[in-house]
Amino acid sequence: MKTPTPETIAAAAQCLRDGGLVAIPTETVYGLGADASNPQAVLRIFAAKGRPADHPLIVHAAGAESLEYWAREVPEGALRLAARYWPGPLTLILKRGRAPLEVTGGQDSVGLRVPAHPVALALLRAFGGGVAAPSANRFGRVSPTRAWHVRRELGDRVDMILDGGPCRVGVESTILSLAGDRPVLLRPGAIALSELQEVLGEEIAPPSTPVAIRAPGMLASHYAPETPFEVWPAEELRQRAEELAQTGRRAAILFIDPQRCGIAATPDLLPFPMPAEPDDYARRLFAVLRRFDRMGLDVLLAEAPPETEAWQAVRDRMRRASC
Ligand code: TXA
Ligand code: MG
Repeated sequence: MKTPTPETIAAAAQCLRDGGLVAIPTETVYGLGADASNPQAVLRIFAAKGRPADHPLIVHAAGAESLEYWAREVPEGALRLAARYWPGPLTLILKRGRAPLEVTGGQDSVGLRVPAHPVALALLRAFGGGVAAPSANRFGRVSPTRAWHVRRELGDRVDMILDGGPCRVGVESTILSLAGDRPVLLRPGAIALSELQEVLGEEIAPPSTPVAIRAPGMLASHYAPETPFEVWPAEELRQRAEELAQTGRRAAILFIDPQRCGIAATPDLLPFPMPAEPDDYARRLFAVLRRFDRMGLDVLLAEAPPETEAWQAVRDRMRRASC
């Protein structure tokens, strides 16, 4: 693992030019990057992740200028959103321009994003091209938010890992499709639907609307830990925990409100406090899931977060992790 100096960034850019795989810190989660214009390199991403080749990857770029290169018929609303949110945790799905079909999983659309992380931006500038990058985890597993998550999960499958510290956002980018007849939110993230709608000046269909776009991030169980994960309303959490303990099972309990959950620690029950603020919760969620996943517990329990918009991304990831 390399803490990035200018020399490391230059070496990582060269690694990309040579067709290698570089794990890149972004503000959302770590990505597994390859030269987006090199189909052979891109195919190595799918092999390293164990991901089916028809699942599209996001192209990461240093700035919005490259929109017109990777995409075509870029709508004015996309330019407005890019100007407002990039660099930042927003992925725009647009009609495919010069993005290779290997990157887009054979689809005629392409996902684009300018990440807001100094290391990612330094690498993208040094490299000069687009970097295709999914989250740097094995297919179907929780996204990595620390460099060592990537090392542990992908090991030698990746040529170089840039350590940019813990990810600030902690859940994957908001994905908005502007490639179809109407705007559709494909994945909730740190940027709320209502905010995007305001900037776009158009209604955006919520993720629950059935859409004919292939997006593995929308598969029900896409972000799962190995330990069974259950989400319960605060009032029912204690009863569920006690039920488990009575049958001799060991569980960690991620609670937000100690008053409402009220679970005392025992050798079998490990209550663990989670932040009451949605951005803080999001930042910690995947790292906490990974940590408890390694403890060989029987179940992970979590208190369901509030049903408000600010919690939408966290609720979405918890729902998927619990399928
Ligand atoms: O925050 C993020 O978006 C992170 C960082 C590394 O940028 N990346 C990430 O990539 O989460 P990935 O591959 O794990 O998830 C990207 C999602 C997938 O569900 C994929 O199907 C969807 O974006 N996607 C990409 N291109 C698409 C396209 N052309 N049409 C529909 N969905 C697309
Ligand atoms: Mg992913």
